[in-house]
Amino acid sequence: MSTATALSIVILAAGQGTRMKSKRPKVLHPLAGKPLLAHVLDTARTLSPSRILVVYGHGGEQVPKALAADDVQWVEQAEQLGTGHAVEQAMPALPDADLVLVLYGDVPLVRTETLTDLVAQAAHTGFALLTVRLNDPTGYGRIVRDESGRVARIVEQKDASPEEQAIDEVNTGILCARAADLRRWLGRLENANAQGEFYLTDTIAMAVAEGLEVATAMPDDACEVLGVNSRRQLAELERHYQRQQAARLMDGGVTLADPARLDVRGEVSADQDVFIDVNVILEGRVKIGADVTIGAGCVIRNAEIGPGTQIRPYSVIEDATIGPQAQIGPFARLRPGTDLARDARIGNFVEVKNSRIGEGSKVNHLSYIGDTDMGAGVNIGAGTITCNYDGANKHRTVIGDGAFIGSDTQLVAPVTVGAHATLGAGTTLTNDAPPGQLTLSRAKQKSIPGWKRPQKQSKEKK
Ligand code: UD1
Ligand code: CA
Repeated sequence: MSTATALSIVILAAGQGTRMKSKRPKVLHPLAGKPLLAHVLDTARTLSPSRILVVYGHGGEQVPKALAADDVQWVEQAEQLGTGHAVEQAMPALPDADLVLVLYGDVPLVRTETLTDLVAQAAHTGFALLTVRLNDPTGYGRIVRDESGRVARIVEQKDASPEEQAIDEVNTGILCARAADLRRWLGRLENANAQGEFYLTDTIAMAVAEGLEVATAMPDDACEVLGVNSRRQLAELERHYQRQQAARLMDGGVTLADPARLDVRGEVSADQDVFIDVNVILEGRVKIGADVTIGAGCVIRNAEIGPGTQIRPYSVIEDATIGPQAQIGPFARLRPGTDLARDARIGNFVEVKNSRIGEGSKVNHLSYIGDTDMGAGVNIGAGTITCNYDGANKHRTVIGDGAFIGSDTQLVAPVTVGAHATLGAGTTLTNDAPPGQLTLSRAKQKSIPGWKRPQKQSKEKK
């Protein structure tokens, strides 16, 4: 921030959100997998304020409990008597010299750049207000300007005359003023209005009366200042957020089969020439290398995917590191602690957990690989299972380089398969398999001459 003045941020989050029809406080409802209020907190942090205060109330301790953080102070507003009253609750914690930026826990998409601009204006004039022009301003406080175009006051919808209701410039609620001034004005608020509330917006007329010029700024995009009052509005903002994420990825060189059918719920980065097919969900921290393709319906959470890797449709990946040029799926499940080296292949209906799969190793069909250290160039036959759990403890399986595990093998851990060992199909391996040898456990095959299949009894005979 360019100003030398310290900045305090106050986030209002005490309201009930009746129209959400929910047990959960409104500001805890998720947008892109993260509570509304957490979006506002994260944006607030980007301004490097000297303190962040959240005014909470409805829903009691649920809100501070859910979003507790070292850099957030919580102030209770036991009764919601209006936005002015809400800000007043935070004032004792604010030094006179600070600028105070007021944000809202249910207005999640406001951008850092917009706020930086607003704060810079306030540093100049002492008071800055974020306004926006709306085709339908119904419900919002209107910005009343004097003949010379200067802000005179704000009038709330319910207090506005028909002429005032025709004004299309509205108050977003977001403003920035000096703490000393706010303290003085808030102390003088009255609630003699249509809603019987202490309006934060009445401070504007007070500022003007003291000769201050109230500066205004507008966001680039009106969606930045939209609030969530209902589940419909929440869904609209979710789609807006997702469109932004899709646009960001495409601008960075990613092809999306359909930008409307990707959901980003976290911090996703992708290098050039990534292709993402429809209905993919990316959650948490996902880092996607160049030339990766992600097939339809994949869900990927907290993963690093190396360049050139192909993830085929309907694969589910969580807390995994995937080497370059790997091939996964379709219908693969990579659980936490999976680490795939270069050129590794995990095929359909394979589950991998807490395991390292070495370079070029293949687990192509219907297998469970858990708690395993697998070397390079290993081939795991269809239906192979690591029996890693004895009902009480987990044990590791170690498979050396170049081992060949026949189909339908059970590796009863702890057990080690030596390098270049071969296990016969159907083996139940309970002891270590020496390197380079064939190991198998198999009952001797026999055939019974003259054996006849049982026949169905005919019904008349009973
Ligand atoms: C407010 C503004 C209005 C503006 C609109 C933008 C006032 C008086 N009016 O109206 O000019 O156009 O926002 O959306 O400020 N809150 C508390 N404690 C309270 C009251 C409210 O924390 O005692 C919080 C609510 O949780 C909500 C926000 O403040 O997030 C706005 O409150 P609300 O009563 O909805 O104000 P509006 O009538 O929408
Ligand atoms: Ca509102």
